[in-house]
Amino acid sequence: MSIEKKKVRMNKQRRATAKAVRVDPDIVLTVKDLTKTYTIGNSTITALNEVNLTIRKGEFIAIVGPSGSGKTTLINCLGALDFPDSGKIIYNVDAEGMGLDIMQMTNKQHKKMRLKKIGLIFQFYNLFPILTAYENVELPMVIAKKDTKLREEKVKSLLKRIGLEERMEHLPTQMSGGEQQRVTIARALVNEPLIILADEPTGELDTETTTNIMKIFLDLKNAGESILMVTHNVRIAEVADRIITLTDGEFTGEKKGGKSIEDIYK
Ligand SMILES: Nc1ncnc2c1ncn2[C@@H]1O[C@H](COP(=O)(O)OP(=O)(O)O)[C@@H](O)[C@H]1O
Ligand SMILES: [Mg+2]
Repeated sequence: MSIEKKKVRMNKQRRATAKAVRVDPDIVLTVKDLTKTYTIGNSTITALNEVNLTIRKGEFIAIVGPSGSGKTTLINCLGALDFPDSGKIIYNVDAEGMGLDIMQMTNKQHKKMRLKKIGLIFQFYNLFPILTAYENVELPMVIAKKDTKLREEKVKSLLKRIGLEERMEHLPTQMSGGEQQRVTIARALVNEPLIILADEPTGELDTETTTNIMKIFLDLKNAGESILMVTHNVRIAEVADRIITLTDGEFTGEKKGGKSIEDIYK
């Protein structure tokens, strides 16, 4: 491509700011006809096939499916870490009914979404090994240029909320898996996102620790947080308000949840 053409394309990209659309203020996220394929050599895999989803404020949704069903692909697309081939991902960005489609956003807007609007939690924690629990939680606020006093108040209150005030100065290697996952939950919440997206948050944890993490999720839900969790663990998914089944990239069923964690492990 000539330099001229490249410049034209770059200018177009810079100008391609997402147009706001009116959305129901009670709906945090609307996903429409989301399709994502991967091509390797001659073969194409359809990881997501026309997925539709609506998440209301304060709702806890679990998506269950076996390995390879498209769970991580979905989280990555919703988290602006990867991009679908087609479809819409509309976030109620100002939480008051102004929606923006991720697909129309600029790179800068994607960065802002990941930093401030979406709280991501992964199976393998993804903490910085050289930072303490406190510093790991604080980092997104530092990047968001929040002032020191506000950071200190927020980080301390979140660490307290997840029961880790005694572990503030610990490095990830000095904490158990469950403790590390609690740190990532605090980190996900620190910039007060619109939604928590969790990919197999208890995948590496034993039953007791899994129970504790699910109790934290339920507390968050009861405090008004919106949560989307994907997991292969059909049992723990029952605590969510709605459980959606994902099979080979398609939603194939939905049921009501709302079970207590005690009922599940009775
Ligand atoms: N980067 C990639 N390149 C090619 N194929 C991929 C890639 N990521 C995922 N896939 C394929 O897409 C399908 C869905 O994968 P994934 O979303 O990771 O499923 P899950 O998280 O439910 O195990 C699988 O068949 C997987 O092999
Ligand atoms: Mg996965």
